Amino acid sequence: MTPPSPTISRVRTSVFEPATAIDRTFPEFPAAQPIDENNYFKKHKPPPYLSEISKDVANFIASHNKQNRKVVLVTSGGTTVPLENNTVRFIDNFSAGTRGATSAEYFLENGYAVIFLHREFSLLPYSRHYSHTTNCFLDYMNEDENGQVVINAEYQNEMRVVLRKYQNARDKGLLLVVPFTTVHQYLFTLKLISQELSVIGPNGLFYLAAAVSDFFLPHSRMPEHKIQSQNDNDGKLRVSLEAVPKFLSRLVDSWAPLAMIISFKLETDSNILLSKARGALERYNHQLVIGNLLQTRKKEVVFVTPEEGEHWIRLTDEQHANGTEIESLIIPEIMSLHEKWCEKTSTL
Ligand code: PMT
Repeated sequence: MTPPSPTISRVRTSVFEPATAIDRTFPEFPAAQPIDENNYFKKHKPPPYLSEISKDVANFIASHNKQNRKVVLVTSGGTTVPLENNTVRFIDNFSAGTRGATSAEYFLENGYAVIFLHREFSLLPYSRHYSHTTNCFLDYMNEDENGQVVINAEYQNEMRVVLRKYQNARDKGLLLVVPFTTVHQYLFTLKLISQELSVIGPNGLFYLAAAVSDFFLPHSRMPEHKIQSQNDNDGKLRVSLEAVPKFLSRLVDSWAPLAMIISFKLETDSNILLSKARGALERYNHQLVIGNLLQTRKKEVVFVTPEEGEHWIRLTDEQHANGTEIESLIIPEIMSLHEKWCEKTSTL
């Protein structure tokens, strides 16, 4: 139930026309090789805060490992590609982090510890329910006769449920929230967390729902200051981007070889979704690709596995109408696959 929010227009500018989406029938970039990894991580400086994150992640994993709890890394939101070192302008993508934040909640509810690697200021588990223009938290509150701020009676039950779940995750230290903004920060942090997570072998799970940029501007070619409009002779800005190495293969082969790895495949054309998802599975050799279409991603997804082929998960019309979230169906299926993965891997 969402309260009315009278001063905010209901227009959604982030919903674009799918018919104008680019044609993605061209082949994917090849998977990154060890040499690409070496080049990328040698040629770029790590973010200065990385050692701090490293400590937090190592402590978090060690503490949950002691309790024999499974740990999932959920990546969420979109990466930016800065065009200037002192960044005024950057290239971004559409992802708000709904899939990641929602999935993290269901993992937490089902006993996992969650490392939530997310685009800073995108949606977070629990607060996502009250953070957007469609459900601003202020619209849920009022002043009582004594001037105390209180939650309106009709939202008490709904908010109590979310609050209790949030407090449980916080008080038991089940959630570690780690931010990124640029694709560069994302890749360095992903590598770091992957290597830390490899310590717990098959009990580690990767759920890579972030929308990661395929192109970037290398530091060597990035201007230090804001690009001036008179820089170019004809007043046009020409940007030449490099392909971001597809690091999923390195993650599977070398960074965390015993963990179960799930990637997402996003398309806008339903005719190519399955072939792209199968292609990703063959190329990277991991355990599960979850395919989704931009237009229907909240109602249906397809699981593609090496053993069982394709399997659709869909909300019924009734479930969709009553606000059931598709992640409440996705996560239990993943848990059962992860359980099988742990059994299989421990007998190797
Ligand atoms: O946030 P929402 O609005 O809820 O939207 C959710 C979502 C649609 C973004 C999500 O469900 C989703 O599909 N995420 C993956 C989108 C994506 O980046 O797809 P891709 O084809 O570019 O990448 C496929 C996989 O390769 C990803 O899991 C990514 O982690 C990995 N990758 C991508 C780029 C890169 N350089 N290296 C990689 O390893």
